[in-house]
Amino acid sequence: MGKRFLTVLAVLAFLCGVVFLGPSGAADEQKAPDVIIIQDALWSKHTKSPVKFSHKKHADEYGGKCVDCHHVYKDGKNTWKEGDKVQKCSECHNEPTIKGEKKLSKDKQTLNLKLAFHNNCQGCHKELKKKDKQKYADIPTTCVKCHPKKK
Ligand code: HEC
Ligand code: HEC
Ligand code: HEC
Ligand code: HEC
Repeated sequence: MGKRFLTVLAVLAFLCGVVFLGPSGAADEQKAPDVIIIQDALWSKHTKSPVKFSHKKHADEYGGKCVDCHHVYKDGKNTWKEGDKVQKCSECHNEPTIKGEKKLSKDKQTLNLKLAFHNNCQGCHKELKKKDKQKYADIPTTCVKCHPKKK
């Protein structure tokens, strides 16, 4: 192999490194942990135990799509797409009522954090169970399945 050819190869390899390794090494890329312990700081006092949520399994194994849970609405349409920044649910759903939240006005219910979690999590679980009772016999739909009793 000629010396010039090797130089060309070296330059190519360098460029590939810049192109392919550059962006993926960016420090500001946001990655979700495999398991998230949900215990939101909007509530200074929690009446229920924290919820262990396997983010990775929901996204990779359970068939959940990012947009089933992540959204940014513009003119009533979800414009969030994979790669966009993810804000905490409570950055938008910041209405803190945990007792009688279903008696709030419609607008406040939409902003209520407890309903945001319950409608999203339970909503999907209940819908799947309704569709296929056998396959989803163990999907959490009761309080203790998500909020285990404190020991
Ligand atoms: C079943 C629901 C669900 C699915 C599906 C889902 N996520 Fe999430 N994701 C969550 C919840 C809940 C949080 C935590 C939000 C909070 O703490 O307020 C989260 C957090 C995140 C975070 C922020 C982590 C942090 O600590 O800042 C990122 C990034 C993220 N998700 C990306 C994704 C991507 C990309 C997909 C699709 C491949 C996806 N999620 C699919 C529910 C989901
Ligand atoms: C950027 C702000 C924002 C973030 C972040 C956000 N939401 Fe929402 N969410 C909204 C808005 C606005 C609506 C109302 C959309 C409409 O007009 O129908 C909504 C609607 C909902 C609804 C349906 C409303 C209902 O009454 O049932 C659920 C459930 C929900 N969000 C759950 C979540 C969860 C869970 C998270 C975190 C994983 C989250 N949201 C993050 C702004 C946000
Ligand atoms: C788009 C549908 C969907 C949404 C939204 C969803 N889940 Fe699930 N979840 C599933 C499926 C599917 C399974 C697996 C059930 C099975 O195979 O028995 C599951 C299983 C679980 C389990 C038991 C197994 C495990 O991984 O620990 C927990 C706990 C759970 N989900 C919590 C949550 C929480 C908390 C949220 C809201 C932040 C949520 N889920 C939102 C579909 C969903
Ligand atoms: C599919 C999972 C799921 C099920 C089932 C579920 N929850 Fe939750 N719940 C959540 C998540 C996630 C949060 C947010 C947890 C946090 O930030 O502390 C939450 C928050 C709450 C909160 C407000 C936070 C607190 O600690 O005071 C209350 C109260 C609550 N749930 C009660 C219940 C009750 C009662 C039931 C049964 C009727 C129930 N939940 C069933 C997932 C679930």
